[in-house]
Amino acid sequence: MIRFEQVTKVYPDGTAAVRDLSFEVAEGELVTLVGPSGCGKTTTMMMVNRLIEPTSGRVLVEGRDVAGVDPVALRRRIGYVIQQVGLFPHRTVLDNTATVPALIGWKRVKARARAAELLELVGLDPKIYGPRYPAQLSGGQRQRVGVARALAADPPVLLMDEPFGAVDPVARERLQNEFLRLQATMRKTVLLVTHDIEEAVRMGDRIAVYGEGRVEQYDTPAAVLGAPATAYVARFVGADRGLKRLSVTAVEPADLEEPPVARTDEPARDAAARMRGQGARWAVVLGTGGELHGWVSADALAEAGERGSVGDLARRMEAWVPLGSPLKQAFSEMLQHDAGWVAVLDGPRFLGVLTPAKLHEALRRSVDADAQGIGRSEVDFDSVSDA
Ligand SMILES: Nc1ncnc2c1ncn2[C@@H]1O[C@H](COP(=O)(O)OP(=O)(O)OP(=O)(O)O)[C@@H](O)[C@H]1O
Ligand SMILES: [Mg+2]
Repeated sequence: MIRFEQVTKVYPDGTAAVRDLSFEVAEGELVTLVGPSGCGKTTTMMMVNRLIEPTSGRVLVEGRDVAGVDPVALRRRIGYVIQQVGLFPHRTVLDNTATVPALIGWKRVKARARAAELLELVGLDPKIYGPRYPAQLSGGQRQRVGVARALAADPPVLLMDEPFGAVDPVARERLQNEFLRLQATMRKTVLLVTHDIEEAVRMGDRIAVYGEGRVEQYDTPAAVLGAPATAYVARFVGADRGLKRLSVTAVEPADLEEPPVARTDEPARDAAARMRGQGARWAVVLGTGGELHGWVSADALAEAGERGSVGDLARRMEAWVPLGSPLKQAFSEMLQHDAGWVAVLDGPRFLGVLTPAKLHEALRRSVDADAQGIGRSEVDFDSVSDA
């Protein structure tokens, strides 16, 4: 959808902003460009909509070299959220949002109706905020308007230059999540610039990690965190990359252990027999509706002479996550409940438990899978070396 072919940009004063850039953004993918200030992120972005022309190399959008596309026609297909938002101060929020549709010749009524729809979409009531001026908004609200404006003409491609840069971390995370929800339905092809590795990891299907004017690594967040391509990338993603990686690796069925399962209404004797049969010291306990109730230990059953029902002897514990959750969420449930495992559910169905040892295995396996470029569940854990 967007393709950089050996793109180099040298500014007239001799500054080489980017050198020999080559990567491709697939349709519907969100790619984050991350790197320190001055590494060439904005320059990269502006070569896509021809605000800047490359010195050499080609940029293709929807299969066509942009050098041969009329810039106005090109920009109709590319929404742009610029660094520092850049709303027109003397235009209302509604008119700001309607800028592009108006520019490309939509009737005023239609352009404004579309603008109102977009404001609604980014969580701003058009009746309240539409008539306001940018100065009468909070930083986060201004950034929402910037996003709404970029989406107004429904372009297939979106360029976002630090779209959530000017707000505090809490508002920022909310804006990020809102945008991800939007993106899940819109499936735009997005280039998003940030200098924040956390944001890059959270938002990106893929990440391009920039060093000075060049891409050091272009890969999935899990791969960038798990197998940094260069010492520079390793430094950039930080010493806590293992922790960050927890948030981009999902719990899979292969990660689960299957301890014995008992029901609250089951006789203690039956549960104890089953646990002995499996050589297990404890069992997961489900309620009569199959919901997670807690756990029961073999010792507790023995102390009670295996009399009564499992429910009488079980301990409550509701540490659980849905299948597919990030490992980080599973880990955080364990810590919060001071538990040695967390139950994994598929809808209401109990699938198994994740233990700290399995969590570690899952992390190791995902690093290895990324290194080989295949799905994590296809890797045989026994083949993973301890290196
Ligand atoms: N018009 C220009 N003329 C000369 N040099 C420029 C020009 N625009 C940018 N540069 C230089 O090109 C390099 C890359 O700039 P660019 O704006 O792409 O960086 P960036 O990664 O977006 O940085 P930031 O995170 O600070 O926004 C910098 O060294 C910058 O000083
Ligand atoms: Mg920039």
